[in-house]
Amino acid sequence: MRLIAPLRATLALGARPRHNPPFDRGESMQKAKINTRVFSGVQPTGNLHLGNYLGAITRFVALQDAHDCLYCVVDLHAITVFQDPEELAKNTREVTAAFIAAGIDPTRHIVFNQSQVSGHAELAWIFNCVARLGWLNRMTQFKEKAGKDRENASAGLYVYPNLMAADILLYHATHVPVGEDQKQHLELARDIAQKFNNDFAKTIAREGYPGGFFPLPEPLITGPATRVMSLRDGTKKMSKSDESDMTRINLTDDADQIAKKIRKAKTDPEPLPSEVKGLESRPEADNLVGIYAGLAETSKEQVLREFGSAPFSKFKEALAELATTRLTPIGAEMRRLMADPVEIDRILNEGARRAHAIADPILAKTKDIVGFIRS
Ligand SMILES: Nc1ncnc2c1ncn2[C@@H]1O[C@H](COP(=O)(O)OP(=O)(O)OP(=O)(O)O)[C@@H](O)[C@H]1O
Ligand SMILES: [Mg+2]
Repeated sequence: MRLIAPLRATLALGARPRHNPPFDRGESMQKAKINTRVFSGVQPTGNLHLGNYLGAITRFVALQDAHDCLYCVVDLHAITVFQDPEELAKNTREVTAAFIAAGIDPTRHIVFNQSQVSGHAELAWIFNCVARLGWLNRMTQFKEKAGKDRENASAGLYVYPNLMAADILLYHATHVPVGEDQKQHLELARDIAQKFNNDFAKTIAREGYPGGFFPLPEPLITGPATRVMSLRDGTKKMSKSDESDMTRINLTDDADQIAKKIRKAKTDPEPLPSEVKGLESRPEADNLVGIYAGLAETSKEQVLREFGSAPFSKFKEALAELATTRLTPIGAEMRRLMADPVEIDRILNEGARRAHAIADPILAKTKDIVGFIRS
């Protein structure tokens, strides 16, 4: 068995990647830091919003005490839809600032931008040749983002889920905190890992991984706000790319903007119910209660215990105050960090260097398994 040094060291620790389904399904996460590696990403597409914060970034923060984490600003994903180059650079720094302002520690964990580690693109190409067209055709995000003018969508947007699988598997990551909208892509990543393990089973075994080379990554979709909806339409996801700024609360909004957006958020004429069941078929009410629960780090039940039968006017006032208290310090810290772009770039560069150290041996081994000659 020919193993390159860093990978051999990883294996000697008994850490990753010899595993086969059923792999660690999360139950043992609290106990076994050594068996887990967390990876997730956010696109630098501007307008970071409350959905990104509650569905993803707060989860990233929570995981860092017990796990080794890589948090990536996924600029390669961003360009699947055209980005102005100057805006892309600014947005990349802004997402980095948001990570840090929200509480991610880039000295203990790895914070970097995707394009600085070429292994993402290299592994994505291999996965383009593993994933099946039929699988990609089922992806709802492509259908939603391409819309009616599908012929005019970039080829990158279509193969986006293959790049996402590469992002995760390049590090043999085992757990991926994401919002509900990314569940389907995570399932595809698992299918790709499984198919690669099957297709190359012979060389994988010869290289010394009888249980398979890539782990099957687990999505971590947790908390009361895994799918924050638009403030103007409770059936549509809150999104960076929505044309109307009134649909979302941005992390950089000030107290007045937050209060105005919540005041104007769509609701229905009924007061709030006292039980969660009463939120069924009331998407806007359900959304606002979920947002409150997410920001207060409690459950929808608890929120309704406090606000059940209250009119929306009263609830919205409390929600605006809570959102302002939670978000405006983050916005202020982001602005402070953004004022020093050289320092942000240094953090990204250092993160990329550390990401390379994990990715390079895994990519090299993948190439051996596929049959590429490396000299
Ligand atoms: N409305 C939302 N509620 C909860 N989580 C969300 C929401 N929107 C995005 N996320 C999560 O935020 C993370 C970053 O996603 P992403 O960068 O694609 O943001 P986005 O708002 O979907 O932007 P875009 O519209 O450009 O795709 C992902 O884990 C995603 O699941
Ligand atoms: Mg998205």
